[in-house]
Amino acid sequence: MTARIIDGKTIAAELRGRVADAAHRLARDRALVPGLAVVLVGSNPASEVYVGSKTKATVGSGMRSFDHRLPATVGEADLLTLVGRLNRDPVVHGILVQLPLPAHIDSQKILAAIDPAKDVDGFHPVNLGRLAAGLPALAPCTPLGCIILAKTVHPSLEGLDAIIIGRSNIVGKPLALLMLGENATVTVAHSKTENLPEVCARADLVIAAVGRPEFVRKSWIKPGATVIDVGITRLPVPGEPGKSKLVGDVAFAEAAEVAGAITPVPGGVGPMTISCLLANTVRAACMQAGFPIPDFSKPSSDERSRD
Ligand code: GUN
Repeated sequence: MTARIIDGKTIAAELRGRVADAAHRLARDRALVPGLAVVLVGSNPASEVYVGSKTKATVGSGMRSFDHRLPATVGEADLLTLVGRLNRDPVVHGILVQLPLPAHIDSQKILAAIDPAKDVDGFHPVNLGRLAAGLPALAPCTPLGCIILAKTVHPSLEGLDAIIIGRSNIVGKPLALLMLGENATVTVAHSKTENLPEVCARADLVIAAVGRPEFVRKSWIKPGATVIDVGITRLPVPGEPGKSKLVGDVAFAEAAEVAGAITPVPGGVGPMTISCLLANTVRAACMQAGFPIPDFSKPSSDERSRD
């Protein structure tokens, strides 16, 4: 068997189109232009690239983007003051503080200071708690992207045996809560899980979010299973000095020989994250205005598997 490749780039573009349509309708019919504030501290090159892409995508979808760049030496108190100002600004509907922050700043303190109603990253403990309680919440973008990708293969996740490898606060835990909300049977595996290959081989849906390149092997995959790879690590290419490539948490080439469907790295989960951020910004703007909250979680029928 050779797996169907789940094309994250195309699915993310389709989602972004639906979000842009919703944003344009809000502006036209209700005079509401969703606004996203992104705060970047210091000049981490990877963060600069992310923030540039976020700004471009936000503006390209008909929303306002407010970029705040602060020096790496900024004090925690000044950053808290900025977050407080953005919390009170009525044209800002979403706030994202780019991580990682410099070591002298307590990231948890900053994230907890963001108004949960504007927390488009879904990292605030209130939003994680609301997700756990099954209440409406802004959920983290990467887990939302994984759910949308999985639904292009399985329009309903109900009753699926799913394994999430990794228990981070940003991906593994919220993803488990989202999948429980979809009525999947969820196992969360981690570094202390025993017999991981055997446990994994029972799953219809494997989501690898462990941050270890090519950790998940072919023998761990049940024939026909769907594999979603959240990992992204840059590794040197052996024998080609100076060259590097991006690698996921799944040994892609061998896993694709047994899986039914699989996401590539790059071009799988990665492109979904920004589209989900834009979706959260529109949802946050609607919530704050008391308007109906659009549901972007279902892929359009064009993106679903026909086989
Ligand atoms: N750094 C890398 N990805 C992200 C993200 O999705 N949100 C935030 N806040 N920081 C990041």
